[in-house]
Order: sequence, then C-alpha cells, then structure tokens
Amino acid sequence: MPPETHDKHGKLARSRNASPESRPNVRLTEDGRPLREVLSYARRGSRFTARQADAWDRLAGEWVFGPEAVADVTGPLDLGAAWFGRDAPLYVEIGSGVGETTASYAAAHPDVNVLAFEVWLPGVADTLGRLEAAGATNARLCTVDAAWSLTELFAAGSITELWTLFPDPWHKKRHHKRRLVNQPFVGVAASRLVAGGTWRLATDWADYAEHIAEVMATEPTLAGGTAERWDERPLTKFERRGLAEGREIADFAYRRV
Ligand SMILES: C[S@@+](CC[C@H](N)C(=O)[O-])C[C@H]1O[C@@H](n2cnc3c(N)ncnc32)[C@H](O)[C@@H]1O
Repeated sequence: MPPETHDKHGKLARSRNASPESRPNVRLTEDGRPLREVLSYARRGSRFTARQADAWDRLAGEWVFGPEAVADVTGPLDLGAAWFGRDAPLYVEIGSGVGETTASYAAAHPDVNVLAFEVWLPGVADTLGRLEAAGATNARLCTVDAAWSLTELFAAGSITELWTLFPDPWHKKRHHKRRLVNQPFVGVAASRLVAGGTWRLATDWADYAEHIAEVMATEPTLAGGTAERWDERPLTKFERRGLAEGREIADFAYRRV
C-alpha cells in the first residue's frame, strides 16, 4: 500500500501520489523555496481496493518505477536495458489511467517494450492486474510525472510510438497552461520520437481537440492532424464516459519528420 503521510495541515492523509512528489529533485527558487511547477495532473484519491493492493504487493516491485528509481539520474537512461532487461522498440503511453491500452497493446505485441506513465497509483495497480490477466510481461509503469521524465530520462530518438489518450482537459482558461499538450513539452516529446515515429492522441472535448490541432501545428518536426480511430485503441474509461455524455471523439496522429 502507498505510505501514509501528513498533509500541510498536519492531518494524516494517504500518500499524495498526484502531487509535486511525483517529480524527483523538486526545483528551488533563488531564495530556496520549492518552485511551484505547472503540473498536468490533479490530486485524486489514492486509496487502494483489496484487489489493487494485492496486485501492487505482488507485481509493483518488478514492474513499477517511482521517483526513487530516478532520483539520482543525471542524463538519459538506456530504458530498454535498465527497466525491461532487453532492447526492443519502445512504445510509451502518457496518462495510462487504469491501463486498458497499455495492457492490450503489450499483450498483442510481445516483441515491443511498452512503458506507461501514470501518477495515480490506484490506476497503476489496476494496470498491473490487467497486464497479469493478459499474460503480458513486456510492460513497465512509471509513476513519475511524464513531462519531467521525457525531458530528463529519454534520449533523443528513443521512442517508436507515443500515446496521449484522453488527457485531462483543464477547461478553465486560467488552467489551459496545465494541458499536457503545450509547448515546450510538445517540442521535447517530438524530439524523443524516432524519425518516422508516431504520436497518437485522442480527446472527447471539442475545445481540447482545437487546442491540440493548434499547438501541434506549431511544432515543425511533426506532420499530421486528425485521423481515423486507431484500430488498436480499446475503449477506455474516459472515452466511455465521454460517449455516455454525448461527446464526439477526435483522434489525431502525427509523424516525426
Ligand atoms: C483523463 S485521464 C485518462 C486516462 C486514460 N488514458 C483513459 O483514457 O481512460 C488522464 C490521466 O493522465 C494522468 N496524467 C496527467 N498528467 C500526467 C503526467 N504528467 N504524468 C503522468 N500521468 C499523468 C492522470 O493522472 C490521469 O489518470
């Protein structure tokens, strides 16, 4: 189970998985205070069900990498060797939620390495259970902020495919800067793709779809736009919710040029 911690009011609280602790090496201001980073995720409950706790206890030690695993990293990692124990094309999901896409893709493609980023630990625990049920051993999960990780841990040209499916929409105008799809992150992520590599995105929010099209168009190393639904993309929890609430789904695919 995640450890218990005290919140800023001194009350005992569950581990704040989706908090600045999801980034190691918190940066400091000139006068030594922690810098308030713009984060693309919000705090969500971190209580585990019995089933999640069981999956976590049995599988996290081998398949999950958290902030402590990268705290001393000073440059790009050979992620295949370091986390998968083998060299294979690397497929990366950012914001994997409960893991439907990562688990189904990893199970269907045992020849590739799939690395899923998710800061919400109950979702990570669900993903572990899904991977086990699917018989997939070629996926790893990282609970460190993906924006920090892509910048700090990945070599240029190291990702074959990147997936950002139903990212948090951050509706309020003053929160638009928290959207994952924003420069400079888009430029960093594009540089981590191999030449010819693909970045797939989907959203159920029309204004985020417009935002994705606009921001991606500012990145000269990417070519693409709206696309047919990716046929290997399973229905996810957030897609299902969007459809149930009557929203249209927009898919995008961009290629690293
Ligand atoms: C709206 S949910 C979508 C989950 C899943 N893709 C789906 O379709 O059901 C977005 C997820 O992205 C995660 N997330 C957002 N920013 C992240 C980041 N920088 N690093 C890792 N996970 C992030 C959130 O914790 C959340 O679970």
